[in-house]
Amino acid sequence: MLTGDLVRLRPLEPSDAEAHYRWNHDPDVGQWLAHSYPVSREVFVAEYADRAKNSYERTVLGVETLAGNRLIGLVVLSGAEPETGGAELDIYIGEKDCWGKGYGTEATRLICRYGFDAMRLHRIELWVADENAAAIRVYRKVGFVEEGRARDTLRRHGRWHDMILMSLLEGELKG
Ligand SMILES: CC(C)(COP(=O)(O)OP(=O)(O)OC[C@H]1O[C@@H](n2cnc3c(N)ncnc32)[C@H](O)[C@@H]1OP(=O)(O)O)[C@@H](O)C(=O)NCCC(=O)NCCS
Repeated sequence: MLTGDLVRLRPLEPSDAEAHYRWNHDPDVGQWLAHSYPVSREVFVAEYADRAKNSYERTVLGVETLAGNRLIGLVVLSGAEPETGGAELDIYIGEKDCWGKGYGTEATRLICRYGFDAMRLHRIELWVADENAAAIRVYRKVGFVEEGRARDTLRRHGRWHDMILMSLLEGELKG
């Protein structure tokens, strides 16, 4: 359990399946995320308890508010390699009424701190769509810097978008 001032990060439980399913199928939440094919609720919930356990290679943690103990989203650190000390970060706050309250920023900070301190990572990177202004703002606040972009990678709202590569090195985490 990783606890901040606003949220804690905790392992997901089988009982979180319904909320997770709802977020995955919310077009507002997923508008800047990679496309995934729809899954039926029944199959998603049935398979939820069999998800892989957290490991060095892939850690998925739920984001829960301290006030109310409400699960509102999740963070993922994946692809960690001891040889390079690198890993990739994903985050989403699936409960839209919780956007803009600082939860995403704190959850990002907590998982990065965990990556650097507990996993001994040296570098955390992520990809973000060029128009995902809220996410870019969060990443910059935490200390991520832009490294480059992959042009015309994501088609949304009738046109192509670049995906921006951002990274945070050990020692650069802000706050
Ligand atoms: C991106 C996301 C994680 C941010 O979480 P959050 O809890 O709303 O983030 P916070 O409240 O900590 O911070 C949001 C910041 O973005 C700013 N922001 C929000 N909308 C904005 C916009 N359209 N343009 C510029 N800044 C914006 C807020 O003002 C705030 O910055 P501030 O603290 O300086 O005022 C959340 O919106 C989300 O999960 N979106 C859907 C999934 C997603 O896109 N994930 C990222 C994939 S790379």
